[in-house]
Amino acid sequence: MDLKEIFDKQIELNERINPDLYKEIHDNAIRRQRFLEFELALRQESAEAIDSLNWKWWKNSPDDWENIKVELVDMLHFWVSMCTVADLNAKDVMNLYFKKNELNHHRQNNGYKEGNYDKYKDGIEDNKKYVLNKETAIDKKILDGKKVAAEILENLKIEIDDLKSRLQKTPGLAVILAGNNPASESYIKMKKSDCEKTGIKSFEYRFPENIQEKDLIELIESLNNDQNVNGILLQLPLPDHLNEDKMLNLISPAKDVDGFHPTNVGKLLLDLPTFKSCTPYGICEILKAYNISTEGKHIVVVGRSNIVGKPIASMLAQKGPYANGTVTLCHSRTTNISEYTKQADIIVAAIGKPLFIKKDMIKKGAVIIDVGINKVEDRSIPRGYRIAGDVDYDNIIDSVSAITPVPGGVGPMTRAMLMVNTTLAYKQQNIISS
Ligand code: GUN
Repeated sequence: MDLKEIFDKQIELNERINPDLYKEIHDNAIRRQRFLEFELALRQESAEAIDSLNWKWWKNSPDDWENIKVELVDMLHFWVSMCTVADLNAKDVMNLYFKKNELNHHRQNNGYKEGNYDKYKDGIEDNKKYVLNKETAIDKKILDGKKVAAEILENLKIEIDDLKSRLQKTPGLAVILAGNNPASESYIKMKKSDCEKTGIKSFEYRFPENIQEKDLIELIESLNNDQNVNGILLQLPLPDHLNEDKMLNLISPAKDVDGFHPTNVGKLLLDLPTFKSCTPYGICEILKAYNISTEGKHIVVVGRSNIVGKPIASMLAQKGPYANGTVTLCHSRTTNISEYTKQADIIVAAIGKPLFIKKDMIKKGAVIIDVGINKVEDRSIPRGYRIAGDVDYDNIIDSVSAITPVPGGVGPMTRAMLMVNTTLAYKQQNIISS
């Protein structure tokens, strides 16, 4: 498919999905003309072509330049998304464009200042929903965390590549595993693979089950001071003889990419900038990617863990986009949980009990986010078990408007957010504004 085809298809899709947003481009002949000119410049895959186009627009309409700048940012965001879909080199052209522009004569006018890459990044984020809508227009019911996470990692790699070349430093994540819990083994393997995909260097530290507390303390303290390590992840659960709270407390809040340190948890509650813990962060991002509004919705969170239930309840109740919800937090001691879940527009199931949320516990058309990862006996398959969520997926699927599968829903999103947080830590430690 060439760019023109994608452009036409996207306009058509946007008209259906988000009629207001692109109506303006479609209806406004001058804007549409500029859009097409931009496409032509882009096809040349040259920063100069885009640059000279800006010049032309600026010279022709100096009075309208403020509006054109806004338009230009829209276009760049739009086309970065499109190029991601089409897998075109234009992504590189965009990068080049942003770099070249720093030297350009109307640099001061066009607002792309040095280091202002975040607009570009936000644009990818904002437009991801169009990319996803394009690909999932037929089936938006299954919220494909694997796909959204892959997109996030791909975009992160672009950002990290650029930062690495500017800073001449590689982001680093230290992963500590004590004991040999098979689930933890498998999680850290996947985290390592995500590091490889994004260009983050991973450092692995393994200890036997009977590790002494002092050895773990010593390692954490040395990693806190290690310049090559931007983020530290202590894989939970720890062996029984170690106190998890005490160990998590030792990790420097500046390197706490899990978002588990009390300082960071407190900041999250106050809605201050911090490392958001990865699972709740991933849930918010998948809702955002599929454009599922939480504003004014009744959201029932089932489970009150420190890692998921408490932070997601807080995040979804906060002010802001993909928040502003009315949240009820249920848990194992709630009497008659289904009384609450039946009223929910959105359910976040994080109670750690397989297939806990049944069809008769939900309202028709609810959105279901399933955080559970449980082993359930299944003698029909050679390994004797399968992985099931906290939701009775097979029996509920016809009643929901959207649902995250297990596996392939929240899990990959959680890991992607770990990479996002590690990149943030790397930027903060190298004083790049985020
Ligand atoms: N164990 C299960 N999930 C997690 C996680 O997100 N972070 C850490 N550190 N341990 C875990």
